[in-house]
Amino acid sequence: MIGGAMHPDQEKTKAMSDTNSSKALLLTLAASAVLGGMLVIVSIQRSPDMATDSESLVALEATAEYGERLIRETTRYMGQHQPDPAKRLSGNDLDCSSCHLVSGSDPGTLSLLETASRYPRFSGRDGGDRDLRDRINGCMQRSMNGVELDRNSIEMIAMETYILGLGRDYSLMSEDKKQADEPPTFAEPDRKADLVAGQQVYENRCQVCHGANGEGLQESTDISEGYVFPPLWGPESYNNGAGMGRVLTAANFIKARMPLGQADLSDDEAFDVSAYINSKPRPEKSNLEEDYPELFRKPVDSPYPPYADPFPQEQHQYGPFSPIREYYRSQNNRQPG
Ligand code: HEC
Ligand code: HEC
Repeated sequence: MIGGAMHPDQEKTKAMSDTNSSKALLLTLAASAVLGGMLVIVSIQRSPDMATDSESLVALEATAEYGERLIRETTRYMGQHQPDPAKRLSGNDLDCSSCHLVSGSDPGTLSLLETASRYPRFSGRDGGDRDLRDRINGCMQRSMNGVELDRNSIEMIAMETYILGLGRDYSLMSEDKKQADEPPTFAEPDRKADLVAGQQVYENRCQVCHGANGEGLQESTDISEGYVFPPLWGPESYNNGAGMGRVLTAANFIKARMPLGQADLSDDEAFDVSAYINSKPRPEKSNLEEDYPELFRKPVDSPYPPYADPFPQEQHQYGPFSPIREYYRSQNNRQPG
């Protein structure tokens, strides 16, 4: 399906093929486990008579298995190329699992294993307490550049059910299984990111999978099937309001996880390549000026204005960040998010 044959550079893609063959196996197992259920779902959705009976629909569809599928293959189940316009909920060609690896079931960076226990909680971005459904919608509208899901929709409840289940799995996991298999956490260099150096890293280490123009690689010529390697910039990637659009968040993820199966970048390389990716064009979210009603809570690396400090936007995009943090400390000891 996905194997190294699609790529001339066998050595670089070896780790990838290993990851993908286990992914393919998981997919097959999960597919056989839920196939029966899926067929029922499909036939019910096509049946106008039953569509009004929303309670039985939820009971049949909003399972953890369906939630896991939505997270792993978001494009396929609720992407913009869906034949049914009502199911075109996400607005790019990413899957949730493009960032929440192995559907969030892997310990470590952007894992969803401990998420259930964290909500509801205060969100500086929204300016109030938010629950897990709100947080899923945060990623829907930003990382997925899509629409807000109805809080009581089957998709929302299915994904929530799956994430709650991950929390239960986590509580039963042995201590060694909870350990992430990752290099040391990204430590931010105290300088401005270097876009030219970042481009070098990109060409040497990332382009083989993510493409010369950050466009990724489609699973097949049928776009509705999604991508083997997800797009990093351009119209099919995350929008400028997404967490991954922040250079420190991206560097943290990239140092921990990329190149996939071979995460060995230095802090400097991770920092520069994150800046390079985020210097490229991507979808723009509207109403970003409404984020962080208390502006001092805005993270120092938030790439879009307004700011409660006098530093230029470019410094928020690429650093150095220590002068910005120092400024907030001097202002009544305020701490940005
Ligand atoms: C482009 C990468 C990306 C994609 C795609 C993405 N997310 Fe996220 N998600 C993030 C980042 C980054 C964060 C955390 C940001 C932070 O708070 O530091 C996050 C946080 C979350 C959280 C909160 C986790 C916690 O423990 O607090 C949930 C839940 C979540 N995402 C669900 C989803 C779902 C569901 C989808 C698909 C509909 C999705 N995400 C797609 C990047 C992504
Ligand atoms: C061997 C192929 C491969 C290489 C090389 C690679 N990636 Fe990835 N990358 C992936 C895959 C596959 C995913 C999605 C994760 C999944 O499906 O398990 C991903 C996801 C990502 C994501 C989150 C999703 C998105 O589209 O925004 C970012 C950011 C990213 N990679 C950056 C990089 C950077 C930077 C490099 C170079 C340092 C790199 N990758 C090298 C395969 C690769």
